[in-house]
Amino acid sequence: MEKIIVNGPGRLSGTVEINGMKNSALGILFGCILVEGPCIIENLPGIKDVTLCLDILAAMGASITRLNDTSIEIDTQNVRGGTSPDELVRKMRASYYLVGAELGRFGCARVGLPGGCDFGVRPIDQHIKAFQALGTVVDTSGDEIVCRAPNGLHGANMFFDVVTVGGTMNLMLAAVLAEGTTVIENAAREPHIVDLANFLGSCGAEISGAGTDTIKIKGVSRLHGCTYAIAPDMIEAGTYMIVAAATGGELRINNVIPKHLESITSKLEEMGVQIEELDDALIVRREQPLKPIKLKTRPYPGFPTDMQPQIAVLLCMAGGKSEIIEGVYENRFRYTEELRRMGADIAVDGNVATINGPTEFHQARVRAVDLRAGAAMIIAALAACGRTEIEDIYHIERGYDDIVGKLSAVGADIRRVVIPDVD
Ligand code: EPZ
Repeated sequence: MEKIIVNGPGRLSGTVEINGMKNSALGILFGCILVEGPCIIENLPGIKDVTLCLDILAAMGASITRLNDTSIEIDTQNVRGGTSPDELVRKMRASYYLVGAELGRFGCARVGLPGGCDFGVRPIDQHIKAFQALGTVVDTSGDEIVCRAPNGLHGANMFFDVVTVGGTMNLMLAAVLAEGTTVIENAAREPHIVDLANFLGSCGAEISGAGTDTIKIKGVSRLHGCTYAIAPDMIEAGTYMIVAAATGGELRINNVIPKHLESITSKLEEMGVQIEELDDALIVRREQPLKPIKLKTRPYPGFPTDMQPQIAVLLCMAGGKSEIIEGVYENRFRYTEELRRMGADIAVDGNVATINGPTEFHQARVRAVDLRAGAAMIIAALAACGRTEIEDIYHIERGYDDIVGKLSAVGADIRRVVIPDVD
């Protein structure tokens, strides 16, 4: 079993380099299925979900050449539809992008049901509604998503009932080669939507409006290869902003797009954190006591749900009563049980968490219940007095590139250990 061990507390200072964004890399890599000819994808993060994605594509027949630590060349001409290995597909939610990509290329799709972090039910009804609008017959009666388009895919107008990142990206993938024009209304506006649209555009797709709530896609006959660099990961950057605030240190965070972080910056400044914006970097420091605030997570440009566990740790350290309303998922507070083991005073009622502070976290043995919760446990451990052990760290390694190495480099007493399993 692997664990992360942290001895705290300790002020951190130094520079952190942010990698490419997990949640656009996965859509872009699966999107390569639509492209005739090789693509070079740069600034890929070194995370388990990207490795899994490449393993799935290779198993389907893609040829993948590693060019360096962060770049690959991929040619999907020999990819066969409907051949993604179920045992890999079910390990992450982003596998559902295979449906849109296979539909776009082959006019049919067969993909096992996706997995992903457990925040309660995570339906895909909007994805299905979108595929049906394009002329697809969808069958999810078994443990697979099976799609066929007997008369080929045609453009359509699609209004999403909920703002869905995955649904928006999946529909873009299915529509770029469809006959005619597709208009997506109530589209998600996350930076990873823009990143995918920019990649597809570099391959010859005709997409306008990405980043707004209305996206227009004019179907083209083919997509050609390109070289594309993934945008920086806003959630990784936000996580290190909170690391700086929680440890009372000063971090320079490189390779960011400050505009992507505006809602996070705004909330942290409200708590008394100092943030200096440079062109492609931030300097974050905290020298005064943290103030309690209220916040609600919302689709972009609102405060990201993927930053909710991390800021909850910081709110525990603030003197007074704070409140978090989870506005995106039905149950994203499972991690609070682990925080309480470290001394947090945090009560959950439905989608509202009430936090009383300040809490001085103490050491404990805790678990990463999901990817961002795992990051939150590391942040709490960095601020805690004593030796904290974090288990189930595979969740963390799905989405953070070398988090132990990056934190060690700025002064954290943190290490990854392997404990032999006792028979
Ligand atoms: C993406 O998940 C991200 N994952 C999530 O990040 C992120 O939390 C989420 O977007 C919101 O930003 C990837 O990109 C791989 P949604 P996704 O569809 O696409 C409901 C991380 O930590 N919904 O925007 O699955 C859904 O239940 C992960 O990196 C439907 O009801 O999220 C949720 O309540 C965790 N029907 C809301 O919409 C649907 O068909 C938003 O989900 C689809 C979604």
